[in-house]
Amino acid sequence: MADDPDSNEQAPRWRRDFPIGWESDHYVSRRELAKFLTLGSALLVGASFAIALVGKLRRAVPASAARIPGGAALGIGESLLFRYPTDEDPCILVRDHEGQLNAYSQVCTHLSCAVVYRPGEETLFCPCHHGYFSCGEGLPTAGPPTRRLPRIQLEERAGELFAVGVKV
Ligand code: FES
Repeated sequence: MADDPDSNEQAPRWRRDFPIGWESDHYVSRRELAKFLTLGSALLVGASFAIALVGKLRRAVPASAARIPGGAALGIGESLLFRYPTDEDPCILVRDHEGQLNAYSQVCTHLSCAVVYRPGEETLFCPCHHGYFSCGEGLPTAGPPTRRLPRIQLEERAGELFAVGVKV
């Protein structure tokens, strides 16, 4: 047999020490390939459904109200950082030049850098790839981001400012 390394006395020593038939070792039948592709596709479909389900469940959970200390007293052209709905979620509160309060997730919708307020331009700016969002709506206006910033819904209660929800 040509594959048998022991059959050839002239074979190098390393081949005699490691008698592996590489051709038969790397052989993959059509059936094995089809099985691999089918199982791989099924796994991908399952993972996609699981991710979509987790995303829906996360969005469906109503966030409770959280006070934003100093939010109501924020001056015109100023911004304030806070966390909502959990301590893992950085947000930014902005009072624009017309006195309007707007709050957004601080996480850029491009690649998750933190956006900052640029009062002179009335924009939220992401320094990572120079992304810009409008202050009034959180819409992307320039740079790579294509999705709006999630808006934090605000409510004023007895002179205090509260974050009461997230609108994705
Ligand atoms: S991460 Fe914000 S523009 Fe890229």
